[in-house]
Order: sequence, then structure tokens, then C-alpha cells
Amino acid sequence: MLKTNTRFCFLFILIFVFSYSHPTKPRLTFDEFFDATAFSTLSLSPTNEHLFFGTRRASWNTSSFENALWIYEIQKQTKKLITRNLHKTIQPKWSPNGLWIALLLDQTSANATHADLHAQSISNNSQTQQCIHLYSPESNELLSVELGDVVPLEFTWSDTDLSLYVAVSNKSLPSMDDEWKGAIEYRRSKSYEHSSIIQVDIVSAKESLSAQTTVVSNLSFYISELIFVSVEQKLFVISASLLLEDLNLFEIYSIDLRNTSSPPVRLTHNEDFESNLKLSPDCQHLLFQTITINSNDRILNNTQISLYALNLLDGQFTRLAQDFHGSIHNYMPTSDGIIYILGQLGTEIHLYSLESLSSGLTEHVGWNGSYETLTVTDQHSMATVYSSTDTPQEIYFINDIDQLQNARPITSENHLFTERDLPQALPYRWENKDDHRTVEGMLHYPPGKYLSKNLPLLVLIHGGPYAASINHFSPNWYTWAALAASEGWLVLEPNYRGSTGYGDAFLQEIRYRPLQIAGQDILHGVDQLIRDGIADPHRLTVGGYSYGGFLTNWLITQTKQFNAALSGAGSIDHTSSWGTMDMPTFLTHLFGGYPWETSHIYQSQSPIYQIDRIRTPTLITTGEADIRVPASQSYILERALYYRGVPVKLFSFPREGHELSDNPWHGKIKVREEIKWLKQYGHQSLL
Ligand SMILES: *[C@@H]1O[C@H](CO)[C@@H](O)[C@H](O)[C@H]1NC(C)=O
Ligand SMILES: *[C@@H]1O[C@H](CO)[C@@H](O)[C@H](O)[C@H]1NC(C)=O
Ligand SMILES: *[C@@H]1O[C@H](CO)[C@@H](O)[C@H](O)[C@H]1NC(C)=O
Ligand SMILES: *[C@@H]1O[C@H](CO)[C@@H](O)[C@H](O)[C@H]1NC(C)=O
Ligand SMILES: *[C@@H]1O[C@H](CO)[C@@H](O)[C@H](O)[C@H]1NC(C)=O
Ligand SMILES: *[C@@H]1O[C@H](CO)[C@@H](O)[C@H](O)[C@H]1NC(C)=O
Ligand SMILES: *[C@@H]1O[C@H](CO)[C@@H](O)[C@H](O)[C@H]1NC(C)=O
Ligand SMILES: *[C@@H]1O[C@H](CO)[C@@H](O)[C@H](O)[C@H]1NC(C)=O
Repeated sequence: MLKTNTRFCFLFILIFVFSYSHPTKPRLTFDEFFDATAFSTLSLSPTNEHLFFGTRRASWNTSSFENALWIYEIQKQTKKLITRNLHKTIQPKWSPNGLWIALLLDQTSANATHADLHAQSISNNSQTQQCIHLYSPESNELLSVELGDVVPLEFTWSDTDLSLYVAVSNKSLPSMDDEWKGAIEYRRSKSYEHSSIIQVDIVSAKESLSAQTTVVSNLSFYISELIFVSVEQKLFVISASLLLEDLNLFEIYSIDLRNTSSPPVRLTHNEDFESNLKLSPDCQHLLFQTITINSNDRILNNTQISLYALNLLDGQFTRLAQDFHGSIHNYMPTSDGIIYILGQLGTEIHLYSLESLSSGLTEHVGWNGSYETLTVTDQHSMATVYSSTDTPQEIYFINDIDQLQNARPITSENHLFTERDLPQALPYRWENKDDHRTVEGMLHYPPGKYLSKNLPLLVLIHGGPYAASINHFSPNWYTWAALAASEGWLVLEPNYRGSTGYGDAFLQEIRYRPLQIAGQDILHGVDQLIRDGIADPHRLTVGGYSYGGFLTNWLITQTKQFNAALSGAGSIDHTSSWGTMDMPTFLTHLFGGYPWETSHIYQSQSPIYQIDRIRTPTLITTGEADIRVPASQSYILERALYYRGVPVKLFSFPREGHELSDNPWHGKIKVREEIKWLKQYGHQSLL
């Protein structure tokens, strides 16, 4: 009797000690998940005294996202608000000596209603003057310079704090005579993708700003980026177009500022997208990242995002960090010739450096997880945005980049998440038994169920396909594994064939069978989870957005294993997707040709021709104004499942494009309905 009592007592103490040493944090709630702050931009001042950073969060009352810009004083460790109305895409930039931050504001004020915006967009007399703003950290003032009736595309500082160059597009549409009554000739309207470069010279900045603007160049293409190179007195620009039909429209050009009547000189002739132009420390090389999307008539293979140097003297290109097996996420050169690189390898993004243009990569040992943006000064201070599945995103600062593990957070925007019982996750590997390729993914366990068995599974598939699910914490409607896990699901985010971070060959192997091979990679992962006893074979579900939607649509035609599916912005008939999306080149590459050349591939990989095999109840979501994967694809799927008597529901979000970035409620409602759908159908096996 005594013995039993002691045992009882012992057990009791154990439970007590256990719960005492692990004070149970509350679970993450649905609302909290959507109240996270994301960091949009980050840059240390040339003087090493200040850091500016952008934050983005939902403003529920105004049904919009708030994009704020902050300035942080490094010595005093204080931050000040610059604006809550930062331009969504064009990033602010420090002037060469740190006197100013140049920035653009969002024209649509945060409290403008949707009716206002709609009225603006249809009115033909919206003669709105655009401005570029200059913020002085010294005086804490925000001054403005008028640019005229134009749409700013990008800007760069010259080599002084008194002059900058702004690329703008010409807003006026081609004038059509009265006989057309608003009819638009499609190709002709596209040929009006012209832009100009305006030089802005600050004449006086005392009291109020006075500046002179001059058009220095008129160009027959759009500009996505530009930088000024002082020694050559040239601007280097990347051309762009709104449609990705012809990769020749995305190239690097130089513009000679000493002779503005000479035409721009084209420097690249390839099928790459160039981005993130920077000048090398020796001023002799132009550095940039590329992603390749080869069309059918080139045998060359696609690569992950790579880093290139263009020698300005002899015009030669060199691929840097060739020995790196992963994808170059970001980079930053410093004046002593070192290039710091954030590289994605597998499910991690770590810091590396190149001692010189020809050297190999050295890894800087930090923490497991993802360093997603970086800014480094010539004094080797660094700021970065870091997170991992168990550490929410914050900005970290460090005086000496060589002491990465000593970095300290300087923001606490997402502090709430540290007080929640976040799901634990780990990388999970399996083999595609057909071709013996190893595939990896992130596996998230429900809180309190780490390494448990027989759990209900959600396979959550990333878009791209040239992207990856990584070890980070980024709460939003697209990467919501942590929320799904908090709702009780084991979540597998597979890095199927085509994903970045596993070598160029792994990325290339998706071509010619882009749904089938990626689909097989995913199904082998599900099989492995079942064999390992981790996933309950009777409670399997699947979902994804964009290419993750393509794959979801495909997988439910291939197997009846999944009890419920969440199809977001997926393609159902790849030929019509090719004909209506803004990036047809991308499908031409994946399917190995145009629809009339490889029709058998377009057809065999399209779910529409096999829809009679679907039994899985499917929830479909799409942005009504999506031009990447047009909403029509989702309507085709809905109609087919409706005729087949398969449970189906479609939500479309007005005024939303592919990013669902207009109204934060839309993404939140998407996930709210998806969780309900999983609850309703996910536990009832069809088999
Ligand atoms: C949002 O609206 C709620 C309810 O109307 C109000 O209590 C709250 O103060 C508002 N918040 C902001 C930031 O305006
Ligand atoms: C936004 O709110 C401010 C202050 O309440 C007001 O002055 C401004 O007119 C509003 N703008 C619009 C477009 O409603
Ligand atoms: C568009 O312009 C015409 C002529 O300038 C004008 O009569 C018409 O009212 C304008 N429409 C709108 C919606 O502003
Ligand atoms: C803008 O386009 C209009 C009509 O296409 C043209 O007349 C005008 O000169 C252009 N302006 C600039 C700055 O290119
Ligand atoms: C650019 O176009 C505008 C309007 O057509 C013209 O006034 C200006 O002289 C042009 N500038 C250059 C540098 O070509
Ligand atoms: C400027 O460029 C034009 C066109 O390329 C050329 O004809 C002219 O000679 C150049 N002027 C000078 C001073 O180099
Ligand atoms: C392209 O990739 C395939 C398969 O990985 C390989 O066999 C071929 O040699 C590569 N071609 C080039 C030009 O690198
Ligand atoms: C970091 O990741 C590696 C590889 O997944 C693992 O072996 C190691 O234990 C991890 N370290 C920490 C501190 O979590």
C-alpha cells in the first residue's frame, strides 16, 4: 500500500516538475498569426550611424496594408517613424554621404476607400503630380521634389548628395482618334512601354527644397533598375516589360551621360533576368544576380539564382561563387573587396563571403535558420532579418560581421510569438523510388506532438517552382504551415524537383514533365511518412498556391489518398494558361516548347483531361485580377467538379492579383475557409 502511494507521489511530483520547468505557453491563435510584422527593406547609412528599415503589417480597420519606414539610431538605440505610407515596391536609398534618404510615397493614401481608388482608376483626368521625397536624419524633415505627371519606376543617387536619377514611365496612353470609341489595338498599346530618365539636381535645401529636373534620356523600354557609375559618367539600367513574352526585353544597357544623344548600348544578350545591380568595390565590374528561363530554341540549362560580374573594361562575364551548390539569395560588396552573400542551401539561408571575384565561398557560422536580407557597411557592421521556425523574424545588428553569433535583435515587432507555443519543425528527407533522387522538405509538428506518430497530415506545396520551403518563420496566407500545425495538422512542405537549394540539375529535372515528376516526389514523401508511422494514412490532405496550386490540381487526379484539397491560383489547362498569363515563356520552358510543338506534354500534364478521376473535396481560391495565373483556371476547375458532383467551393477576391496584397482580409479569409475545409473533410478517408 505504502509502495503504491510513494509511486503515486513520485508520479505526481514528476508531473509537477515537468509542468513547472516547461510552463505551458498558450497556442498561437488564428488572429495573432495574421498580426505579424514583415520587414520590407533594410539599409545601414554610409556613416554607420543610422539604419532605416521598412515594416509591413495589416491595417484591419482600413482594409489595407501599412508600409511604414523607420529610422534607427545605432548609438542611442532609438527608432523614429518616417512615414506610414511608403511606396510598396520602390525601396528608399541613402545618398552617398548619408545626408538624405530618398524615398517614394504611396500615392493612394492609406485611408482612401476602395470606391475612391476605383474612381481614380477610371477617371481620365487624374493629373496627379508625382514627387520624390528626401528625408534628413539630421533635421527629421521630409521634403519633396515634384517630378510631373509621370509614374516613377526606380531611382538611384549620383556620386553626390545633390543629384539623383529617376526612371519614369510616360503616363499618357497612345491617343486614339474619336472613331475608335475607346477600342484598343492590343499589340499597339503594348508598344508604348517607353520610359525616361530624369535628373534631379538639388539647388538649395535650406528652409524648403528647391530642385531642378531635366530629362536626360528617352528610352523605348521600361526600366526595372538603374545605377550610376561615376568613373564612366554612365548609367547602367536593366530593361523590362510588363509581359514576359520575349526575354530579349530584359537586358542590361549603358547610357552615356556625357553624350545624351548617343543611344543606349546593350551589354547582355541572354535569356536571363538580371536584377540587383551593384558596382564592385574596384569600380571595374558590374555585379548582378540572374535567373535563367531558357526558351525552346536554346539547349542551355536553367540555373538557380546566380551572381555574375561584368567587366566594364573588356565586356567579359564571370559567374561568381561557382562552387556554391545552392541559390544566391542576396549579396553586398564592401569597399575592401569582400562580397557578402546570403545563400540558400537546402532549407537554410546562411551568410557566406567571397574574398575576391575569383575566390571560393567561405561560410560564416551563425544560427540554424534563415538570414533573409542583409546590409553591410564598409566598417563591417551588419544588419539582417533573421528567423527560424521557432524564432520569429526580427532585425539583428552586429558591429563586426565576423562575430555573426553575437548579433542582437534591435526590433521586437514580433515579440508576441516568442510567448506562444510554436510548432517545432525539422527537415525531413525521403527518396523518390522511381529515380532514387533524395528529396527534402520541412516537417512541422503540432505543438506538444513533436516526433509523435499517426498524425493527420497536410501537404502544403510552395509556388515557383523555382523557390523553396525553408527554415524560417514568416506568418502570412501563403506560408501558413505554423498555423496549420497549431490547428493540429502535421505539415509537410516538400521541396520537390524544380526547387532551389539542391543544385542546378535538381532544378532542371522538372522540365518536360513538370507536374508528373514533382508530383511523384511529393507522393513518395507521403508514402515515407506513412511507412515511418508519422502520418495517419486515413487522414491525408493537400494544398498549395500558385505552382503549389498547379501541383494540388495534378495530385488529386493521380490519387484518391487525399481527403481534402486546397487549390490556390492553380492551372488546370496549361494551354490556356500559356495563352493568358503574363509569363508564357515560363510555361514554354517547363513544357519544352509552344503548345503546338509539344501538345502531348501540355495535354498529358493538364488535370482538365483527367478530372473524372477526382473524388477529393476541393476548396478553390483565386484573385479576380490575377494576371500570373488567371482566375479563369479556377473557374474551369470549379465547373468541372460541380458537374462531377465532387464537393467544391470557390472564393474569388475582387481587385486582387496573384499576391493578394490589396486587402489583408482576403488572405485571412482564404486561410480561415481552408482550415474549415480541412476540418470538415480532412478526417474522412475516401478509400
Ligand atoms: C479599429 O477599429 C476598432 C473598432 O472600431 C477600434 O476600437 C480601434 O481603435 C481601431 N483601431 C485603429 C488603429 O484605428
Ligand atoms: C485621410 O485622412 C486625413 C486625416 O483624417 C484627411 O485629411 C484626408 O483628407 C483623408 N484622405 C482621404 C483620401 O480620405
Ligand atoms: C473624360 O474626358 C472627357 C473629355 O475631356 C470628359 O468629357 C469626360 O467627362 C471625362 N470622363 C471622366 C470619367 O472624367
Ligand atoms: C509621352 O508620350 C506622348 C504620347 O505618346 C508623347 O507625345 C510625349 O512626348 C512623351 N513624353 C516623354 C517625356 O517621352
Ligand atoms: C525626351 O522627350 C521629350 C518629349 O518628347 C523631349 O522634349 C526631350 O528633348 C527628349 N530628351 C532627350 C534627352 O532625348
Ligand atoms: C554623341 O553621340 C552621337 C550619336 O551616337 C554621335 O553622332 C556624336 O558624335 C557624339 N558626340 C560626341 C561629342 O561624342
Ligand atoms: C543540361 O542538363 C542535362 C541534364 O542535367 C545535362 O545532361 C546536359 O549536359 C546539360 N547541358 C548543358 C549545356 O549544361
Ligand atoms: C542545426 O542543423 C543541423 C543540421 O540540420 C543539426 O544537426 C544541428 O543540431 C542544428 N543545431 C541546432 C542548434 O539546432
